[in-house]
Amino acid sequence: MSVLIKGGTVVTAEWMDAADVLIDGETIGAVGAGLDAPEAEVVDATGRFVLPGGIDVHTHLAMPLGDIASSDDFYTGHVAAAFGGTTTHLDFANQSKGESLLAALDEWHARARDKACIDYGFHLTLTDVNKAVLDEIARLPQHGVSTIKMLMAYKGRIMVGDEDLFLAMRRARDAGILTMVHCENGDVIDILVREAVASGHVAPKYHALTRPPQLEGEATGRAIAMAEVLDAPLYVVHVTCEDALTRVREARARGSRVTAETCVQYLFFTADNLDTKGFEGAKWVCSPPFRQGKDHEVLWSALRDNSLSVVSTDHCPFDFETQTVLGRDDLSRIPNGCPGIEDRLQVLHEAGVNGGRFNLQRFVDLTATTPARVFGLEGRKGAIAPGCDADIALWNMEAERTISVKTSHSAVDYNLYEGMKVRGFPERVYLRGKLLVDGDRFLGEPGSGRYLHRRVVRSRNSHHERGR
Ligand code: URP
Ligand code: ZN
Ligand code: ZN
Repeated sequence: MSVLIKGGTVVTAEWMDAADVLIDGETIGAVGAGLDAPEAEVVDATGRFVLPGGIDVHTHLAMPLGDIASSDDFYTGHVAAAFGGTTTHLDFANQSKGESLLAALDEWHARARDKACIDYGFHLTLTDVNKAVLDEIARLPQHGVSTIKMLMAYKGRIMVGDEDLFLAMRRARDAGILTMVHCENGDVIDILVREAVASGHVAPKYHALTRPPQLEGEATGRAIAMAEVLDAPLYVVHVTCEDALTRVREARARGSRVTAETCVQYLFFTADNLDTKGFEGAKWVCSPPFRQGKDHEVLWSALRDNSLSVVSTDHCPFDFETQTVLGRDDLSRIPNGCPGIEDRLQVLHEAGVNGGRFNLQRFVDLTATTPARVFGLEGRKGAIAPGCDADIALWNMEAERTISVKTSHSAVDYNLYEGMKVRGFPERVYLRGKLLVDGDRFLGEPGSGRYLHRRVVRSRNSHHERGR
């Protein structure tokens, strides 16, 4: 079955021009002006922009947390992603204490397999490092996993100490695996949180006050130092502030193999949102926390100069009325995480492209093409090019919409962007050549999303990256 998308404006990270796209089965057969394919179903894309499906490399679907789990599973999260123009995501398979990495991976496969309706892959989060686990790292690429993650925060739960971080990063380097790190100083945060709770400072605003930006900056510098000593590639997840960004910039200026992302919500919200009346502010509890308005401009400029190369979501929703409320009397019990998988592209497009901060090509680069390159999917995902999977979103850049929980598809009872007006959104979304979203109709089937066996990427010195 072939489909000819005719008359649109194709946008890639490198170019943007009027062109047709021929879909041949699951992949893109040709891209060019005036394509002709008599057998193909013709889709009129006049006035539409033809973008690669988005790739969100940082999500937590159905993530267990004590007695609860993040509220979107691999069906509802995928439906939400698809309506937002995202056709691929990478989720974190979290190792439990005492568990092997491959057992954790099996668990996450079981969570996803029968529900998935977009394509997905897994990073492996190490929470309990020992000799057997270190030995397992080299086996991950055989299972399609080319990235591990460790957290320098959440002491006593999933945090790893410096020794484990260093040892695992070294093994990852040897196996060609990229190490991702959540950089916050968990030891100091743990003291500050315990002291806050003991003093009765349990309101959501103390979440930000107990996790100051210096502690993100310090931990970012520490992770970078280890990566440089090892000459290992490092990916810093969810950078929020100037303190951290300065470390990333300096490392990249030295040519270190350091790549960093921010998550879209850090471009919009501040610590003031945590101080919303009553307990409402708990909707904005995520780690690292929201910062100050001045940090937004720092992040935007880093997205322009490629100090930040990826925008993801850290989508980890908790239902406010049934889950977030568990932390009403104790800030340390508020489940950390925000929704955003459906909104990422629209709000970034609105503030980034319509707001004049960068162009559509850079938008595609940050949200699809670079994520594919960094995470072992280049040539398959993240581009409109012959041979790539036909994951395509047709955007109407003139249509306006007001974001609301009432029209969102995530299994969560609020939307952080409630009431925000956006101009431009994906009207039709294809996954591997099949129409997945058509206006407000969802056409995907549970179980039709495919696991992505990702390649290891021998990353280059940051001086050799494509300059922007
Ligand atoms: O608050 C957050 N970000 N929750 C999800 C886990 C993590 O730290 O990425
Ligand atoms: Zn994190
Ligand atoms: Zn996360």
